[in-house]
Amino acid sequence: MSNYHIKQFEEYFQVYRKSVRNPEQFWEEIAEEHFTWKKRWSNVLSYDFKKAEFKWFEDAKLNITENCIDRHLHTRGDKTAILFEPNNPDDEAEHITYKQLHERVCKFANVLKSKGIKKGDVVCIYLPMIPELAISILACARIGAIHSVIFAGFSATAISSRINDCNAKMMITSDGSYRGSKTIDLKSIVDEALNETPGIESVLVAKHIQSDINMKDGRDFWLAPLLEDTSSDCAAEVMDAEDPLFILYTSGSTGKPKGMVHTIGGYMVYTAYTFKNVFQYREEDIYWCTADIGWITGHSYIVYGPLANGATSVMFEGVPSYPDYGRFWNIVEKHKITQFYTAPTAIRALAKQGTEFIEKYDLSSLKVLGSVGEPINEEAWHWYDENVGKKKSPIVDTWWQTETGGIMITPIPFSTPTKPTYATLPFIGVQPALMDENGQELKGNQVEGRLCIKFPWPAMARTIWGNHQRYKDTYFSAYDNMYFTGDGALRDEVGYYRITGRVDDVIIVSGHNLGTAPIEDAINEHPAVSESAIVGFPHDVKGNALYGYVTLKDVGESRNHENLRMEINQLITDRIGPIAKLDKIQFTEGLPKTRSGKIMRRILRKIAANETDQLGDTSTLLNPEVVQDIINNVK
Ligand code: PRX
Repeated sequence: MSNYHIKQFEEYFQVYRKSVRNPEQFWEEIAEEHFTWKKRWSNVLSYDFKKAEFKWFEDAKLNITENCIDRHLHTRGDKTAILFEPNNPDDEAEHITYKQLHERVCKFANVLKSKGIKKGDVVCIYLPMIPELAISILACARIGAIHSVIFAGFSATAISSRINDCNAKMMITSDGSYRGSKTIDLKSIVDEALNETPGIESVLVAKHIQSDINMKDGRDFWLAPLLEDTSSDCAAEVMDAEDPLFILYTSGSTGKPKGMVHTIGGYMVYTAYTFKNVFQYREEDIYWCTADIGWITGHSYIVYGPLANGATSVMFEGVPSYPDYGRFWNIVEKHKITQFYTAPTAIRALAKQGTEFIEKYDLSSLKVLGSVGEPINEEAWHWYDENVGKKKSPIVDTWWQTETGGIMITPIPFSTPTKPTYATLPFIGVQPALMDENGQELKGNQVEGRLCIKFPWPAMARTIWGNHQRYKDTYFSAYDNMYFTGDGALRDEVGYYRITGRVDDVIIVSGHNLGTAPIEDAINEHPAVSESAIVGFPHDVKGNALYGYVTLKDVGESRNHENLRMEINQLITDRIGPIAKLDKIQFTEGLPKTRSGKIMRRILRKIAANETDQLGDTSTLLNPEVVQDIINNVK
């Protein structure tokens, strides 16, 4: 029996049991039957949790682009692979067939080669959601270069630190991007970043908004003429299953962002297999994930997972509110979308507009709805279910992370009975565990603890670029022989999981992971600031928003606080990007600290959430008096 497509709940249990009883045999079968390899593996899995070393399909040879493109050419050459919906609804959508994608990827790959990019080199990509983004990723994979996509909302400082961290040789960008009624001058942000990046040898620039930009002689090249002059023949580089495919940065609770490294073979098998089942994908479907390819959701479930299945994947350049709040529904109707995968923050923002925009469009093509990136609250879940899915399209609340590479806890639509706010059951092959604070596993149901995974899965990140020790410390040192996710979760009376949120200092704002440390570092650069602490507080659209407690160097100084707030947010925008701006800034006389000098964020969190009756014991603090003072002056 093929286990590639699970259609019933009973089947889920059978396949799940098989996958955990003998994971090697299970994944070997999936890999063998559904993918193209140039050479078979010598070993399905080897792992060592102590060293944090994991290898899947060792010694196997392949190229992921042959799996995502070439092998479909005979059967699906004229089928749309990427359906590009531009920012402006009056501009025509672009249907890129598998044949055309093949040609464009090969040409792009040859351009990369002509600029000296070789197997193992790192290429940074800072592009809006235009076809070149997917094509450049695949072009890197074609020749064995490692792509490192930087979300095109990050600032110049954030770009340069990522470029330098991964020693990238090339940058791919565009003159600019459209975002609703605005344009953003991406190239000048890149130019500023490149002042600090000696390793970058060349910059390829896609013309998109036709703006007047600065091109540096000998370094910057327009893409179009290069592509025109290039052959569309490009043999796929033979890669090892464990060669890196890409680096993608994610925030940590401390220090600089972590460059998570994903490797080719396991990532391909897992993203393809999860895509097929979690979205119950069928050949004629038109699948749309609204994420940006700059995040892991876009890597795994706009590009690799869908294309490995020969699917039509929609790429949308714009925003949900332009030209009005009906845009998403307009696209669903226009392209007859069958699977729609978005984030709770978008659902909440759209729900705020009522149902007037939805009612204008025919959403009857929808079969499966997805949610990802943060916990979905009950109200948003029901709104999504009733108004978008008309109570007939199951919602898959998919829990996973940049580090996990693919979806880990999720219902299988039409099989797993859904339950609002619950990600429900582990995906095939995923072995979750809930741990208490003493390192004991909480067995049985109706328990709540820290979420870990106790067996390797094919798409797990293999290391942090240039810092394996940090990878080991962050994910494998909290509990023996387990991967620690950083999330808390509960298991209900039937064994369903509900993710309760981060248990560390990472805050999820509008579905984006933000570490407190880099934001605090940015604030502390302000000459008037002595120290700061950031916490999250509940926000009805963003899920969480950021609350900053800031102490000034000279409290007697009568600086205009409104100006200071603006300057602080500007600093954050410059250092990280607008997504990390603070909603509230309170100037305080001091910050509550333990006797060892550690800031007690727990207390600050309670104050920000207006739960001051739940502060707990504050008497052991070094400076208990500041707590009342902070409460009295809440912003
Ligand atoms: O806290 C969890 C939350 O997002 C974190 C991972 O963020 P990132 O690496 O940016 O990847 C996001 C897209 C996969 C997790 O540690 N998270 C993600 N999905 C869910 C979620 N929290 C609750 N429910 C989810 N479905």
